Parts: sequence; structure tokens; C-alpha cells
Amino acid sequence: MWKKWFSNKSDVDQNQSYLQNSLDPNSIPAHIAIIMDGNGRWAQKRGLPRTLGHHAGAETLRNIVKTAAELGVKVLTAYAFSTENWKRPAEEVDVLMRLLSDYLDSEIDELDSNNVQIRFIGKTDELAPSLYHKVTQAQKRTSKNTGLILNLAVNYGGRAELTRAVQLIARKVAAGVIAPDNISEQTIQDHLYTADLPDPDLLIRPSGDLRLSNFLLWQSAYTEFWFTNTNWPDFTPDHLIQAIADYQRRDRRFGGLKTSK
Ligand code: IPE
Ligand code: IPE
Ligand code: MG
Repeated sequence: MWKKWFSNKSDVDQNQSYLQNSLDPNSIPAHIAIIMDGNGRWAQKRGLPRTLGHHAGAETLRNIVKTAAELGVKVLTAYAFSTENWKRPAEEVDVLMRLLSDYLDSEIDELDSNNVQIRFIGKTDELAPSLYHKVTQAQKRTSKNTGLILNLAVNYGGRAELTRAVQLIARKVAAGVIAPDNISEQTIQDHLYTADLPDPDLLIRPSGDLRLSNFLLWQSAYTEFWFTNTNWPDFTPDHLIQAIADYQRRDRRFGGLKTSK
């Protein structure tokens, strides 16, 4: 029997449920994006190899996906591997790819039975064929699920995504399907991996680095950012709740005027 996440309230740590109750259930961010950073530093601090940090980080993702679903988040986009991460030593890249494969193997049943829809953004067709197959199978198997959308960014880069969009649009222009003057912001949005998803409301980056590292460049135009020095393997559901609580105190103006007093 696969565990249903919502069946056992006593599972929820008392402190967490107390913090959770401090949130306004009516303004939970619909889309949260997370840059899962700091695995290497987490390991180095403990005198461990970086790869153990990645293992610990995968464990954090399991917990955070569950909490996000419990809180009613609609879309969680997690940055797992960037188009620039190929610059790392081959052994580290191998571990990261294996972890993704293991994550899908071990989580797919539980995610599916909890109505999670798994999607991928990025050039997944450049992954090893066996991993690409696993990725497309996971996507296919969960495509009818109506709960949390878990959007994993793998071999993803914001610039690569925009370059791809330009290529797709240019082809349509060349074929006479779109007139150049009719290219609008919506046209570009429609050709991104995230075409049918809302822009992220909240973007979280652990580890103390204060940059986007090529993540969701177009989509984060008006996203609220939340940073913590905690490394990803130490990131807990309480951090997520804290980030949402802070988000709920922000005044999002989108270039207009204050909506609250
Ligand atoms: C994030 O942790 C994992 C990936 C980028 C794939 P890092 O490996 O970047 O950890 P730090 O930033 O070196 O601590
Ligand atoms: C961003 O982190 C990519 C992921 C977390 C997957 P990096 O660790 O690669 O970013 P930089 O190199 O510090 O900017
Ligand atoms: Mg890093």
C-alpha cells in the first residue's frame, strides 16, 4: 500500500502545523520555484564528498514536495540540473543523473498515488537515452493527475529556453504561420516550456547565493524572491512555511500602485 500524504494528521510535526496555521490559506502562492543549491557546501562542512550532499538534497526534495502538496501549492518547479552544470567533473554529473533516475524509480508510485503530475522542463532529450525514457514515462504516467504539478528543471537554462522559443517562432514566421508584427509577449510565453503554467509567485534560493543562475529568466519578471543561508539538504518544511509567510506580507505591485494600506 502506498502512503497517502493526507491520511494521517499525526504525521505532521506539531511545530510545523503550528507554523502552517499562521499562513493565510487564501493566498498560498500558486507557483513556487526553488533553486536546490548548497549540496556541495553542506557536504564540505561535514568533511564528506560533495556527492553525499546531493544524496541528502534528494531527500529534502521528497519532504518539500509533500509539504507543498499539503499546503495547496499548485505548481512546484525545482531546479535540479542547469545547462551549465555539465562543466562539473564527469563523476559528479554521473551521480546527479543517477540520483534523478533513482528518485523517479523510488518516488513515482507514491507521487502518482498522491495525484502529483510530474513534468520536466529543459533539454531532456540530451540526457542518456535510458534516463530520457524514464523521464518521458514518468511524465506520461502522471499526465492525467490533477494535484500538485511537480516541474523538474533538468538540463534547463533560461537562455536556452528563450533561444528555443525564438527558433520555434522563427520557423512559424518562415512558414508564413505568424507575421513578425504579430509576435507579442504572449507569443513568446506560448513557446516556453512553461507555456500553460502561471509565472512563479515565489522563488526560493537556499545556500546564501543571491542570483538566478539562469533559472526562469522570462517567467520571474515579477516573482518575489526569498533567500536563506541554509543549504538545501538542511532546508525543512518550516523554511518553506516561513518563506510563504514572508511572501504573504509582501506588496506585489506589478508596476502599479500599492494594493494594501
Ligand atoms: C546544488 O548544489 C546541486 C546542483 C547544482 C546540481 P551544488 O552542488 O551547487 O552545491 P554548492 O553550491 O557547490 O554548495
Ligand atoms: C544552480 O546552482 C543550478 C541548480 C541548483 C541546479 P549552481 O550551483 O549551478 O549555480 P552557480 O554556479 O553557483 O551560479
Ligand atoms: Mg551551487
